[in-house]
Amino acid sequence: MLCSRQREVNELASLHPDFLYGTAWKEERTPALAELALRLGFRGIDTANQRRHYFEAGVGQGLAAAYRAGVVTRADVFLQTKFTYRPGQDHRLPYDPAARLSVQVAQSMASSLEHLGTDYVDSYVLHGPSSGYGWTEADAEVWEAMKKERDAGRARLLGVSNVSLGHLEQMVATGTETPAFVQNRCYARFGWDREVRFFCRERKITYQGFSLLTANAEVLRDPVVTGLAARAGATPAQVVFAFARAVGMLPLTGTSDPEHMKQDLASVGLELSGDSVRAIEALAG
Ligand SMILES: NC(=O)c1ccc[n+]([C@@H]2O[C@H](COP(=O)([O-])OP(=O)(O)OC[C@H]3O[C@@H](n4cnc5c(N)ncnc54)[C@H](OP(=O)(O)O)[C@@H]3O)[C@@H](O)[C@H]2O)c1
Repeated sequence: MLCSRQREVNELASLHPDFLYGTAWKEERTPALAELALRLGFRGIDTANQRRHYFEAGVGQGLAAAYRAGVVTRADVFLQTKFTYRPGQDHRLPYDPAARLSVQVAQSMASSLEHLGTDYVDSYVLHGPSSGYGWTEADAEVWEAMKKERDAGRARLLGVSNVSLGHLEQMVATGTETPAFVQNRCYARFGWDREVRFFCRERKITYQGFSLLTANAEVLRDPVVTGLAARAGATPAQVVFAFARAVGMLPLTGTSDPEHMKQDLASVGLELSGDSVRAIEALAG
């Protein structure tokens, strides 16, 4: 019989795929890599309307190629994009910077839908709050505008990224609707973002972890992880992704390598014992 925690994880997992393919920093390779990721089996794509780091229109081209080739239909794919404040952008803005924030959100969303060749995204994420120190009035205005986009059917679910426990607690304290997703850089040395993960777990928010490999080079070399990998016939990277899933995370990978894409997807089948999960969780922090 499934324990209630496991049932919860399963319920949430049914709303999204078990891996997200991240499209940052791929520039002109974005269309081909997004298409390849879909061909190899990824069904979740993460992007942002932030030309500085993402080529969202290139993701749309990759999707279109995959649709044309009959690899997937729009309904098969979980598409996630983001609204990014002016300071996180370069000169290539998807909105009028002089417009009020609620208008910027509507313009950014309209531009995303055009880039992605769709009339809705599965998840719309606030790329990061306007301040590291709290949930500001600007964030409240943007969040309201994002809710309007959701209520109009242009986004199924909403998320926030690069948040602290303080941001999330403030959302609750001010009676703000909490997100369906939190997307954070996940450092093993901070207990794998323990405080935020636990908050998410209690509130049935799906925690999306990025930089699981790049932020945790020491973990990939740790004998606990290399030993588990050797015994399972897996790679340390696969063990980290399997661990992430075992503790309820939805992991992201941004690999550009077809073999790594296959290995990352194959980590879905790698099961770790409870003792192994606890050992990895206790590695640092
Ligand atoms: N919300 C935010 O602010 C934010 C910030 C950063 C990233 N993101 C999202 O998260 C996505 C992923 O970013 P990330 O920082 O996690 O990853 P990333 O920067 O794309 O890097 C992943 C690294 O891991 C390597 N790798 C992947 N699979 C591997 C495997 N099986 N074995 C060995 N090496 C492997 C990759 O190398 P190869 O390419 O050689 O495989 C690459 O160097 C981004 O594309 C973006 O969508 C969001």
